[in-house]
Amino acid sequence: MAAPYLEISHLSKVFSSFRAVNDFSLNVNKGELVSLLGPSGCGKTTLLRAVAGLDRQTSGEIRIAGRDVSNTPASKRNFGILFQSYALFPNLSAADNIAYGLVARRTPRTAIEKRVSELLDLVDLQSQRNKYPAQLSGGQQQRVALARALATSPELLLLDEPLSALDAQVRVYLRDEIRSLQRRLDITTVLVTHDQEEALAISDTVVLMNKGSIEQIGAPDTLYAQPASRFAATFIGTSSALPATALGSGTVRLGEHVLKTRPYDAPSASSVTICFRPEDVRLVDTADDGNTIQTRVARLSFHGASWRCGLALTGVPDAVVHADFTAATVRDTALAEGAAVRVAVDPDRISVFAGS
Ligand SMILES: Nc1ncnc2c1ncn2[C@@H]1O[C@H](COP(=O)(O)OP(=O)(O)O)[C@@H](O)[C@H]1O
Ligand SMILES: [Mg+2]
Repeated sequence: MAAPYLEISHLSKVFSSFRAVNDFSLNVNKGELVSLLGPSGCGKTTLLRAVAGLDRQTSGEIRIAGRDVSNTPASKRNFGILFQSYALFPNLSAADNIAYGLVARRTPRTAIEKRVSELLDLVDLQSQRNKYPAQLSGGQQQRVALARALATSPELLLLDEPLSALDAQVRVYLRDEIRSLQRRLDITTVLVTHDQEEALAISDTVVLMNKGSIEQIGAPDTLYAQPASRFAATFIGTSSALPATALGSGTVRLGEHVLKTRPYDAPSASSVTICFRPEDVRLVDTADDGNTIQTRVARLSFHGASWRCGLALTGVPDAVVHADFTAATVRDTALAEGAAVRVAVDPDRISVFAGS
């Protein structure tokens, strides 16, 4: 197997005494799109800036294409970068913004014209080439910025929240554009985002970060289906997180109920948190169905094709089970706030994590 294109080894960044990135290691393969996903302040931008050489790491190593660039200045690292704020030059046209890096490299004029035209085609902005940034929409400006980042044909693309300033519709459109471009160019890409939906939608691999460290790495569907921690279970998608007591060998006590779960490590009688997804909660008639919980409908909110229900648990104050039921189910069972309902969750859908 080929060596990874980008190798980050034991990278740390300390600001005075604050550790923004803590012993972070990651390999990214050629042509892979990896997202750094996590809440605001968890160290994503700090890490990306270290990879770019814009801010030097406190310790650790970075290799790009097999070359140790840990102490190499940004200008010698061969990457394109895109930030949330488009950072275009307001006094240059779209075409001249895209040409900027090529001009700086003293590329011959005819070669610049050819390349800029290619890039305008690539981001579908040929007709806007002479407009100034203020005459373009946010989405168009960000496409100019993307073309500018790609102008010098870098082999590494670094994206820091590139879609966060755009409205929801443009965001989804442009995220799919970025993904298809990235695939077509086969360009190794690191995307920083706090938006889990965005990360899940377009990444080959998601790196979930929390407080400067890696919480979990995996393919989007693996992270969603097999969260490794309560943080992962609740940051990605929606999970119910309920306080329970370990009974050992894949069972827990939840209030008055005993539930079978996935296997877990926590010692018997210790406090645990059980997590499961709203779509894994089924309405049932009787306790005979197994692994059932008695609840009361506390909230119902309409989501179009489905209803999101907040179910209060008898005997477990403040615990809420989130459940998604189809519109047809809600209609057929005449589900309403205040109704007593029994729900079931299959054991292999219930994750158990140590601690409350
Ligand atoms: N130049 C700096 N000086 C001091 N603290 C910083 C500096 N840059 C970032 N930080 C701190 O490091 C942490 C991580 O920041 P950042 O990497 O920007 O987070 P993210 O991009 O995940 O939102 C934050 O707590 C932030 O306040
Ligand atoms: Mg950031």
